[in-house]
Amino acid sequence: MTESHPDPVPAERTGGSARPDLLQVEHLQVHFPIRGKGLFARQRGQVRAVDDVSFAVRRGETLGLVGESGSGKTTVGRAILRAVPVTAGRVRFRGDQGEVDLLGLEGESLRRFRKHMQLIFQDPYASLNPRMTVRDIIAEPLEAGAQKMAKSEIDDRVRETARRCRLNLEHLRRFPHAFSGGQRQRIGIARALVSSPEFVVCDESVSALDVSIQADILNLLMDLQEELHTTYLFIAHDLSVVAQISTRVAVMYVGKLMELAPTDALFSRPAHPYTNALFSAIPHLDPTQAFEPLRLTGEIPNPASPPPGCRFQTRCPFAEDRCRNEEPAWREVGPDHLVACHFAERLDFTRRP
Ligand SMILES: Nc1ncnc2c1ncn2[C@@H]1O[C@H](COP(=O)(O)OP(=O)(O)O)[C@@H](O)[C@H]1O
Ligand code: SF4
Ligand SMILES: [Mg+2]
Repeated sequence: MTESHPDPVPAERTGGSARPDLLQVEHLQVHFPIRGKGLFARQRGQVRAVDDVSFAVRRGETLGLVGESGSGKTTVGRAILRAVPVTAGRVRFRGDQGEVDLLGLEGESLRRFRKHMQLIFQDPYASLNPRMTVRDIIAEPLEAGAQKMAKSEIDDRVRETARRCRLNLEHLRRFPHAFSGGQRQRIGIARALVSSPEFVVCDESVSALDVSIQADILNLLMDLQEELHTTYLFIAHDLSVVAQISTRVAVMYVGKLMELAPTDALFSRPAHPYTNALFSAIPHLDPTQAFEPLRLTGEIPNPASPPPGCRFQTRCPFAEDRCRNEEPAWREVGPDHLVACHFAERLDFTRRP
């Protein structure tokens, strides 16, 4: 574990708008072994998919997590949901049940806890079982839950959740192939929310949909959050999508966080060159924007052998010797605004380097 990440910034230090933390992720690492061919092949290295990441998710907020494909976003979400083995770190969940050490849960206690955190899948086509009715798909988390519920109670919960997700109750008896992409994603959302989870990971949940349907689904997610007080970790590779729904945005690159700030601050004053470069992918940027997006060139480094020093140094137009030798600390540069760049205060994005 490196020294560069201090403990996450406590809520009381993050300005008046701070809400209490629901989730605290501390020094999270997920390393996947790379093995040679054959049954007894030795490990040849490791993919450092998540490499010392610390952040908090506040109750009732949407924390966006953005970065190019392969930066480790999905692995962060899956680690919190206990869907991949975690190499090191700690995840504390401070929900209605009191404080729970998520990575310490095993067996029956983990199974019981699962209803408090759910995942909305990326691809509504692939994630729904074609042989199950919509009713059974939505009911599954309740039927798989640790506590037995009566069928009538399950039916009531399914109908109420379907209604909230603007699904036609007539459709509960049908099979998922009969529905459009947007409707299928509503079914996926209903399944995720039926157990009243406090925390939901949305992983590229609108990325496979047409732009107009994306807006519908984002609005639905926001309305449901207001009604149910759910907390979201919203993962996407597209910064403009993340900005539409997120209270704050975290930017990830090759297994590490580069920047984390309230959405407004990130859009008006990005402090990290990588964040700035992500703006170049937004086609219709506000013409009054005070900075010029950097053009991102070159390949994203392999997380099995990340570059020394700053992970962005191989693509950063501002890189100096220090960037190649010393890993930047994760530090506060403004109210509630964290960044990992040696020179964040003095970089001028209004002029090209
Ligand atoms: N189960 C796995 N085994 C080995 N490598 C993996 C596994 N899952 C993800 N990776 C690798 O970890 C890195 C991060 O992947 P991922 O978390 O899916 O990134 P993102 O969601 O940002 O696209 C990638 O290099 C990916 O190939
Ligand atoms: S630390 Fe150096 S290489 Fe990394 S983002 Fe900052 S200026 Fe660029
Ligand atoms: Mg992903």
